[in-house]
Amino acid sequence: MSTLWHGRFASGPSEALLAFTESLSFDQRMAQHDILGTKAHVRGLQRIGLLTEGETEAILTALDQAAVEFAEGSVAFNPTDEDIHTVIERRATELAGEAGAKIHTGRSRNDQVATAFRLWVRDALAELALGVAELESVLLRRATDVGEAYLPGYTHLQRAQPVPLAHHLAAHAWSFSRDIDRLLAAWNRADVSPLGAGALAGSSLPLVPADTARDLNFGQVFQNSLDVTSDRDFVAEALFAVAMIGIHLSRIGEEFVLWSSSEFGFIVLDDAYATGSSMMPQKKNADIAELTRGKSGRLIGNLTGLLATLKGLPLAYNRDLQEDKEALFDSVDQVTLALLAIGGMIDTVTFRTDVMENAASDQTSLATDLAEILVEGGVPFRQAHAIVAELVQRHLADGSSLSDLVAGDDRFGPEVDALFEPGAALRRRQSPGGAGFGPVAQQLTALAEQVAEDRSRVGGLVRLVEGAV
Ligand code: ARG
Repeated sequence: MSTLWHGRFASGPSEALLAFTESLSFDQRMAQHDILGTKAHVRGLQRIGLLTEGETEAILTALDQAAVEFAEGSVAFNPTDEDIHTVIERRATELAGEAGAKIHTGRSRNDQVATAFRLWVRDALAELALGVAELESVLLRRATDVGEAYLPGYTHLQRAQPVPLAHHLAAHAWSFSRDIDRLLAAWNRADVSPLGAGALAGSSLPLVPADTARDLNFGQVFQNSLDVTSDRDFVAEALFAVAMIGIHLSRIGEEFVLWSSSEFGFIVLDDAYATGSSMMPQKKNADIAELTRGKSGRLIGNLTGLLATLKGLPLAYNRDLQEDKEALFDSVDQVTLALLAIGGMIDTVTFRTDVMENAASDQTSLATDLAEILVEGGVPFRQAHAIVAELVQRHLADGSSLSDLVAGDDRFGPEVDALFEPGAALRRRQSPGGAGFGPVAQQLTALAEQVAEDRSRVGGLVRLVEGAV
């Protein structure tokens, strides 16, 4: 039993070294992507005459066999198998016989690992983007179904102005559409082939990186072997895109925690998406929402952890770079689960629109509209603000209703009464993109188009290995 590099050493590796430096325990999830990278490399070697047709055939068949074994989970590992790259070369060599000794010609694990990881990242981001598009659809459907229900809009978590519930739900959907932009941008960043860069300097053998890149459906090929073997910008960018999704989910989580409290009472969670208490029989908790909020801290940690790992590294490859994978695997796994859980929670929640509308009927939340009515009558806004502020002050001081105070104030015309009808402020509000029923109806049409476009953008991403992420 030996490592790939034992030849130069008089004695074998210590157990402590193997235990500390191994990455097989986590990088085995890139097995299928590494096999694809290795097959492309082998075909490249044949094209430049370094492998015969027979040797190529033997190795490719062995790699296909290894791919099946990895899918079945039947590959046995040795203690000296440091990483997935070691195992795949070993297993393919066991199956291919003599030709196996030529697999690693002109290649280093440094360009190999960068190739496999970029392939994995592309597939993972495409998969995640599907999940985000799914959540966008859930938000669009709920926003469409709630019709003209409304609730208080908040700034500083103080009631500010009434807004349609559809507007609130759509606001979250737009943030996920931007997340899809970011996932696609990160996908493109990962879409560069490092194969042929060798350990750091390329090779004296006549490798053709552009050909192996094409074979792997990479959009670009590296320009600089030192750069591409040590570049993990694409991982940091993927971690950022994923963390941002988590932060958006966390903001929804925070709202659902508040909204499901007795103090708000705006929503009732479906039993399948709520938890109970082991001691207090009456409890119904929003654990999905809370954990989403909690896990977003970990996603930020994964991003900042990798940035810290990268910051002091000299060119080119350093073993520190092995730390790139667990961070992204974890972020992708957590957000994949969160998207499903939050999506189901939103899909099934009951909106208590009577409670929401009651909360939004607080007359002081019409103060801005009252000032704007004065502006329409020619009063400068600063004066209008002062007039309404004074009425609000009187209302707060003696409890007289704002509508009575306004009705008794001759600076307002009789038509102001209508503003106090339920939902009237939302019917009056017409500014594009604003929280009026009219603009929101237009916005939902635009959102439906955006969701359809996002779905087709995501569908257009090629996945080399489906379900292996
Ligand atoms: N397991 C290593 C990693 O994930 C592969 C590259 C090892 N290269 C080396 N020169 N030791 O980065």
